[in-house]
Amino acid sequence: MNLRNESIGTIQHFSWQENGLSGLAGNKQFSIKFYTSKICRIQASKHEAFDENPFSVVLPPQKVSIDAKETDQSLTLKTADIQLEIKRSPLRLCFKNNHGQILNEDDPAFGISWLGHEVTNYKTLSPNEVFLGLGEKGGGLNRRGSSFVNWNSDAFAFGNDTDPLYLSAPFYIGIREGQPYGIFFDNTHKTHFNFGASNNNRFSYFGAEAGDLNYYFIQGDTVLEVIQEYARLTGTSQLPPKWSLGFQQCRYSYYPDHEVYTVADTFRKKRIPADVIYLDIHYMEDYKAFTFDKNRFPDPKGLIEKLEAQGFKVVVILDPGIATQPGYGTYDRGVEKDIFVKYPDGSRFEASVWPGNSHFTDFTAKEGRDWWADELKFYTDKGLEGFWNDMNEPACWGQDIPNLIEFDYEGQTASHKKTRNIYGFQMVRATFEGAKKQLNNKRPFTLTRAGFAGVQRYSAVWTGDNVAGDEDMLLGVRLVNSLGMTGIPVSGYDVGGFVGESAPALFARWLAVATFAPFFRVHSMVNVRDSEPWAYGEEVEEISRNYINLRYQLMPYLYSLFFEAHHKGNPINRSLAVDYYNDQNIYQGNAQNEFTLGQWLLVCPTTTTQEYAKIYLPQGKWYNFFTDELHEGGCHMLVETQMEDLPVFAKEGAIIPLQNVVQTTQEKTDGILKLHLYFGEVETHQTYYEDDGSTYNFEQGQYCKREIYFNGKMSTLQVAKQEGSYTSEFHSLKIHLHGFEANSFEINGESVTFHVEDLQLLAPITEFDPLPQRPKRDYWSKGVKTLEIPFTQEEINLNWK
Ligand code: GLC
Repeated sequence: MNLRNESIGTIQHFSWQENGLSGLAGNKQFSIKFYTSKICRIQASKHEAFDENPFSVVLPPQKVSIDAKETDQSLTLKTADIQLEIKRSPLRLCFKNNHGQILNEDDPAFGISWLGHEVTNYKTLSPNEVFLGLGEKGGGLNRRGSSFVNWNSDAFAFGNDTDPLYLSAPFYIGIREGQPYGIFFDNTHKTHFNFGASNNNRFSYFGAEAGDLNYYFIQGDTVLEVIQEYARLTGTSQLPPKWSLGFQQCRYSYYPDHEVYTVADTFRKKRIPADVIYLDIHYMEDYKAFTFDKNRFPDPKGLIEKLEAQGFKVVVILDPGIATQPGYGTYDRGVEKDIFVKYPDGSRFEASVWPGNSHFTDFTAKEGRDWWADELKFYTDKGLEGFWNDMNEPACWGQDIPNLIEFDYEGQTASHKKTRNIYGFQMVRATFEGAKKQLNNKRPFTLTRAGFAGVQRYSAVWTGDNVAGDEDMLLGVRLVNSLGMTGIPVSGYDVGGFVGESAPALFARWLAVATFAPFFRVHSMVNVRDSEPWAYGEEVEEISRNYINLRYQLMPYLYSLFFEAHHKGNPINRSLAVDYYNDQNIYQGNAQNEFTLGQWLLVCPTTTTQEYAKIYLPQGKWYNFFTDELHEGGCHMLVETQMEDLPVFAKEGAIIPLQNVVQTTQEKTDGILKLHLYFGEVETHQTYYEDDGSTYNFEQGQYCKREIYFNGKMSTLQVAKQEGSYTSEFHSLKIHLHGFEANSFEINGESVTFHVEDLQLLAPITEFDPLPQRPKRDYWSKGVKTLEIPFTQEEINLNWK
């Protein structure tokens, strides 16, 4: 039989339901349901019951007030934010905003169609429609003209064109005639997205190999709002332990234990701050999960305690494959609990991976997750709080897992086809939940390679086995930026590249840019050169120390951004498309790699081939973060970028809390919170957030939250009264005014005097022998006005003239 396209037909009948309607069109079930006034779910199926993904969406439908109208040709549903027009014959949807502007509509010819079991939704393309996000995908910032597949894959040594990668997040943001919207295609099978690739712009589409058409249309007035709405739907990231915001050193693998001690001691001796050291697969006995090799690591508990005393946390790797070796406790208990993935005939699926022949835990079953959670006690009893989940696409030698194997899929029983994309997500969920349960109110840190929409609720993500190259460094930055627009704010890449070897200059630049990434870790493969910050010569060591020091200075700002991510789903690294999406310049050249940390710090990555780089400053005024030099935005700029230079700019109106350099987040600061303000005739706001950084007590109100409002037109700054009952670790607030011409100041109505200081955020680099041709950078922000006042819980008002 030859399959041909079969588009959904005419609405035969329908009934109004709470929040929408459901019915039959061309013998296909369909349902349209508003979840909020900004989110509408569309389902269409060839089957009697709709397919459900119980793992991703956490928002139940809310009460929405809907104005519904019916004519012979169409049905219209209006909420406060969306007008949905449904054509009856054939069934076609058109979403408009409340001004009647079309945001997204079905292609008139094909709309929702099937080709055998494959369902696809074809959408019209407007001439300049821009597409953003879709998670961990290479390519340019604007996805227009490209197509992508979601099928979690072990993409060793991936490049810009490799697709699919490790993680699937079938959510994208479109911008049509300047208006943003989002589409989350909630189907865990292999899915395809085509944004006008190879069809002369006839249409865009998304489709799946099997399962239903099941998507959520999201309206937002801005790109940020679409991201926040999506975060309401699929959940936000955890507030992780603060130590996981520090610098992390990894390699495949540090062993035996004395090598780990040497690495830790060297960080402290060289005064290079760091918080975490990783143990990769060699810590285990024959790569078996839930074991420590007795010769290499005779006393894991002692190791963790000693490192803890030096302010280091240890994170261990954990893969899903369990060696099929009777007598190995984990294996025996897994068999007894019957939690391994099986063939349809009931025999256990076996494949080869690091520990040799292995079974795979079924994390899609509650029993599987609970079992895993109990096994984790092996680590938590030894004092471990950090877990790194790898190979969870799942990966095994040969890679091509037979599609017939079966998973519980929360009681639904589903094949590998439907389950693969959520497997890693459920593994790290089990890890997170297990660790949380064992850790007695302490926050665990979890890191995963594979994932699906919703994985942000349980874990940070790293982008897998990247290559040591300039383009790969930029690719990593774009991946993190894209993940941030896809509701996954906490991610990072292997600094220096996992595969291959970085030249010293590349390592220095990579580390500098990663200073501003949410997850900051150096990692490299087995049998390659050493890759610690001191392994690339003295000059790179100084540059690395400088930027890592900066990372720790940024900690109060970073932690506040992690709070905003947790609270609202805000990305931590914001592609320029988050705030400047209607500026066409951001979709060209290097601007596609640029991002802001939060709203305020613009970071422009540069490569080793660039002694001068053309960067783009979006609209507004920008202060060079290291010299205070002021630039007008909305234009390109040529900047000198020697090895030690990373172009970073603070936006006018920026509110950036900093602290002094510490060697680990576990070290006490000097107690002075440094609030940096950059003058502009603008009105801005930043939330400052602080808590103990390690427990869940913040859920009981033990936090310190201050809303900070800056108004450059009215010449006022307000630090609102503290919310929450946590006593800040800072006793003083040192206000730093950049670019302020005023010279008369009042705090809470009383006249005060600011001092004038010259500041250095980066220390000067010493000259090295043989002397390079050029003078070394010596950055100074001159004439910064400063004043230190007590940091009480009361409101602080500053005015100037
Ligand atoms: C995978 C991981 C890598 C790890 C290695 C050994 O390749 O992506 O980070 O070092 O396995 O465990």
